[in-house]
Amino acid sequence: MLVKPDGVERGLVGEVLRRIERKGYRLAAMQMRTASEELAGQHYAEHAAKPFFRDLVEYLCSGPTLAAVIEGERVVKGVRVMNGTTVPTLAPPGTIRGDLACTRGGVSMFNVVHGSDSRVSAEREIALWFPDL
Ligand code: RTP
Ligand code: MG
Repeated sequence: MLVKPDGVERGLVGEVLRRIERKGYRLAAMQMRTASEELAGQHYAEHAAKPFFRDLVEYLCSGPTLAAVIEGERVVKGVRVMNGTTVPTLAPPGTIRGDLACTRGGVSMFNVVHGSDSRVSAEREIALWFPDL
């Protein structure tokens, strides 16, 4: 998962990791890093054709991101549930986005966290963010 630049800037790294740890997941690796345009573009490659892609890449490069490898049973689905839905104003209370994010200037991009959406995506993203693992 990622705590994206808006989350790092707002000092939410500890809050996000606290939730992950209390859930019982294991923090297997972590790294603070400002994504290059290349890394951000590869990370969000599935959205390359979307109108918001440029803004999304710019956002992910805008400051440090905390990248973490989380281990646990059914963790991919579990972290997605903990993150809540993409649009923060619609994310249910109790979720990270529901509790910690609202839209900024009407834009849903600033939603604090990213979670891989499948095992295959997780493996691809771990290779991008942690080339030495
Ligand atoms: P993520 O990949 O970051 O975990 O988020 P997600 O699966 O819930 O949402 P996804 O559809 O993959 O979108 C990736 C990120 O793009 C931004 N977004 N902006 N302006 C827009 O309409 C829009 N839609 C999506 C969000 O930052 C979202 O997390
Ligand atoms: Mg996604």
